[in-house]
Amino acid sequence: MGKHVEVLPTMAGLIERALELVVAQMQSSISDRGQCTIALSGGSTPKPLYEAIANVDLPWQKIHVFWGDERYVAPDHPDSNQGMARRAWLDKVNIPAANIHPMPTLAGDPAVDASKHEAELREFFKTPPGEFPALDIILLGMGDDGHTASLFPHTEALLVSDRLITVGNKDGQPRLTFTAPLINTARCVIFVVAGANKRPALAQIFAPQGDEIAYPSRLIQPVGELWWLLDESAGQELKFVG
Ligand code: 6PG
Repeated sequence: MGKHVEVLPTMAGLIERALELVVAQMQSSISDRGQCTIALSGGSTPKPLYEAIANVDLPWQKIHVFWGDERYVAPDHPDSNQGMARRAWLDKVNIPAANIHPMPTLAGDPAVDASKHEAELREFFKTPPGEFPALDIILLGMGDDGHTASLFPHTEALLVSDRLITVGNKDGQPRLTFTAPLINTARCVIFVVAGANKRPALAQIFAPQGDEIAYPSRLIQPVGELWWLLDESAGQELKFVG
């Protein structure tokens, strides 16, 4: 379905373009299938995007929110991706509580919670064993080491191909994460990346040849649309990439 790369001159321009694309994809999903399923990224970059989405008049009862990864902390922990998205967006709109599907992090064992969330996704999407559900939109960020979601370089999570959810590992800290095959089943994957510190990893990820284990964002080759939205400081050397 095509790969798109856009470099926006400023951070504000990046967020504005990301908002335009996400809202258009949401509306298209609702028009085509009666609902939109979107998985959110964490970290700091998407926060202003979530704050902007909260100001858009959307049919929230038709929108289901998931997360592509989660730190293994309680929802009220300052590092929680769920907590950030609720404060920036979800607490400000009239979305039914049942439409918010956070990754569970309270079992005391990330593997237990990963299996629990896998079951929740399979139930929601009515996905038989061995198959992967197609989310409408998966938002992703990218770390300066080339990781995305919680698929970190040289970790076992990169090799998981038979599950929807697995346990990621950031410097010994457990995380829950979508697996690469689940991400790659999405109808639309949108990376939103900003900052000069991301430039070296982007060069590795956009190189014709490269090491997916060292730069996990290379693994993301979805069956649907792939969008890379970059600000100038991150993407200036990629302006003319097709
Ligand atoms: C997380 C994210 C992670 C993030 C990147 C970029 O839980 O931290 O899902 O994959 O997108 O680390 O983070 P920044 O946007 O803060 O640079």
